[in-house]
Amino acid sequence: MYTKTLMKIVIGGACWALVATAQAAGNPENGKLKFNTCTGCHGIPGYTSAYPTYHVPRLGAQNADYIVAALNEYKAGDRKHPTMHANAFSLSDQDMADIAAYVASIKPNEESHPIKGDVAAGQQKAEACAACHGKEGNAPTTSLFPKLAGQHEDYLVKALHDYKAGNRKNAIMSGMATPLSDKDITDLAAHFASQPNGVYVVKD
Ligand code: HEC
Ligand code: HEC
Repeated sequence: MYTKTLMKIVIGGACWALVATAQAAGNPENGKLKFNTCTGCHGIPGYTSAYPTYHVPRLGAQNADYIVAALNEYKAGDRKHPTMHANAFSLSDQDMADIAAYVASIKPNEESHPIKGDVAAGQQKAEACAACHGKEGNAPTTSLFPKLAGQHEDYLVKALHDYKAGNRKNAIMSGMATPLSDKDITDLAAHFASQPNGVYVVKD
């Protein structure tokens, strides 16, 4: 199991390195202007989507390469989400790189992190995630892995269910999420959502 996961990291890493070098360099000032259409949802602390109800993810200080990857997945329909598909569809590679550079540059800001799940149980289970996301979810190894620390708990739950159900197509994460029970998912989300030095709402 361990060797298999490691293999995936090595193989995945090699592909991603190629993708990453092909990406346009982002300009954070241009990205800030382009982010105007996004602030109505991603710039408001505690904003939730209407149905199903969960918090819109925090993007501030998220890893730039991951933001670009996520936007391309919504654009291509590999992540099934009509609103984000519509938002990503008209973005060019340069737009995505600029937006990613801007959101990655957001400084830490105060926000409350109310936690519902079992943080202690989640901390133990998070060993399985540490190789890529870091034990505390700060994703220290590569900018292609998302930070989970400080992310909304209910959004993390929703994302894990989406990988499990195939609503998000990602070979690594569907492999990781499929064996998780509902309780594992809520425990893991509680642990990562409660950690510091992660992501924040996008505000200057
Ligand atoms: C109407 C509200 C709304 C608007 C406007 C919006 N988003 Fe989103 N965004 C969401 C929701 C809800 C999700 C979570 C979707 C899911 O469950 O996969 C999301 C997810 C994302 C993600 C994935 C985050 C992660 O951690 O994987 C990125 C990146 C993103 N949005 C960027 C943008 C950008 C850039 C724009 C503007 C061009 C934008 N969004 C506009 C609601 C919105
Ligand atoms: C081998 C590396 C690897 C391991 C191990 C791993 N992940 Fe991931 N994780 C990723 C990658 C890569 C992505 C981005 C996938 C995508 O593009 O949708 C991701 C995405 C996620 C997301 C979505 C974040 C967001 O902002 O939408 C969550 C939640 C997540 N992982 C949780 C976990 C949990 C919990 C574990 C342990 C049970 C885990 N991951 C183990 C590589 C990994």
